[in-house]
Amino acid sequence: MDSKKNAKKIIKRAKPEKSKEEPLVLQTLRGMKDILPSDQPYWEQVRRISERLSRDYGFLRLDTPIVEFSNLFTRSIGEGTDIVEKEMYTFITRGGDKVALRPELTAGNCRSFIQNGMNVLSKPVKIFSTGPVYRYDRPQEGRYREHFQVNFDAFGEQDPILDAQMIQIAHRIIQTLGIKSVQMQVNSIGCQVCRKDYKELLVNYLESKKSKLCQDCKRRMDTNPLRVLDCKEDKCSQVAALAPQSVDHLCEECRTHFKTLLEYLDELDLPYIINPHLVRGLDYYTKTVFEIWSSAEEGKKLSLGGGGRYDKLIKMMGGEDTPAIGFAFGVERVIAEMKRVQAKPYKIPRPKVFLAQLGNLAKKKSLRLFSELEKNGILTAESFGRGSLKSQLRIANKLGVEFTLILGQKESLDGTVIVKNMTTGAQETVSMDKLVDLIKKKLKADNVVVYHN
Ligand code: HAM
Repeated sequence: MDSKKNAKKIIKRAKPEKSKEEPLVLQTLRGMKDILPSDQPYWEQVRRISERLSRDYGFLRLDTPIVEFSNLFTRSIGEGTDIVEKEMYTFITRGGDKVALRPELTAGNCRSFIQNGMNVLSKPVKIFSTGPVYRYDRPQEGRYREHFQVNFDAFGEQDPILDAQMIQIAHRIIQTLGIKSVQMQVNSIGCQVCRKDYKELLVNYLESKKSKLCQDCKRRMDTNPLRVLDCKEDKCSQVAALAPQSVDHLCEECRTHFKTLLEYLDELDLPYIINPHLVRGLDYYTKTVFEIWSSAEEGKKLSLGGGGRYDKLIKMMGGEDTPAIGFAFGVERVIAEMKRVQAKPYKIPRPKVFLAQLGNLAKKKSLRLFSELEKNGILTAESFGRGSLKSQLRIANKLGVEFTLILGQKESLDGTVIVKNMTTGAQETVSMDKLVDLIKKKLKADNVVVYHN
């Protein structure tokens, strides 16, 4: 009886809203945008390069849901951070759960690592993930409410060699994408022990300069004093310039860790800048933090990617003590930089063959023939909706294909196809069952790359 009542209630609640009162707004939400076909070659390039390098460096792909319990993010990213304080898309579900759209990928990866017992896998467990993330920030250039990240996390290794390898991967991805000039910024913000002393020192210093800080930073002094160091306001930068630096106040272990990391980077010939003001906007970091900055002129500089160690996060979430490190790129920002430096996007393969048909029987047969060509890796274009040969040949010409296959009434009955060389204009009639081999041979002879490369 009760469950029937509940079911009724749910059905009643799930009724769609009346569309009468609200006009249909045919627009993406502010800070969100479509990725149009014309932009896809850039996206494809980023996907291909990052996926390939993730495999080369031994990463396994993990996809987690876009929606998680909101306290997964508030606890890991930190209550005093901008992301949690101002930027989370949080809502209550119909079932009463407090959930949020993920503002980043690492918290979900850690949840999945613990939930799925990945601690038994051989270490380091290297995880690659990519997808959209959501931050309700004020939209501006390079800052969106929906953006995509390419994310690398590695669990179970505290040796700084992994920090160096992560920075190397980040650098390699960017270089492979054709962005040759970037700045690798590194810093160490210490562990929970030495950071506590450093924070005290920093707060004391900031107290003495309080009147010179912006309103936000005055508040940050209590909630997240390290963030004062990377405030973009001029007056705060001036205060930050003379502030005590975390690298000068590291404990022995953190100092050795950072020094060894720098030695590895030197060994790799990987240029870096030690930036004592680099603190990152998420609370879970310990020891190494790093960012990759574009070489765009000052003021327009945005970080293309960033990350660091988070050795205490898995334990804080309730898992086994597991050191970890990771980083993420913002795909939109990387693509904007690719365009700025005129890096090449992915060249989407174009069809080299056009299939033209004439008459009802040919039209019927052409569907199967097209599929035969596709199965054999021959990228073919068609315009099945058109009847006239002239208009089909016009399209073939426009596409710049090498060959047009013409299937007319006679050919359909004979089991043949006319192969027209579009450069020379020469035509030959070929038996249908020899067609695929012949086209493959011809394309190979012309050194044409077929679709399935
Ligand atoms: P994050 O620095 O907050 O780090 O974001 C990574 C990258 O995402 C940034 O460097 C930037 O390129 C891009 N990004 C951030 N916010 C926006 C936005 N509103 N619009 C466009 N692009 C944006 C993280 O999210 C960490 N989870 C990275 C990490 C992985 N740390 C350890 N593992």
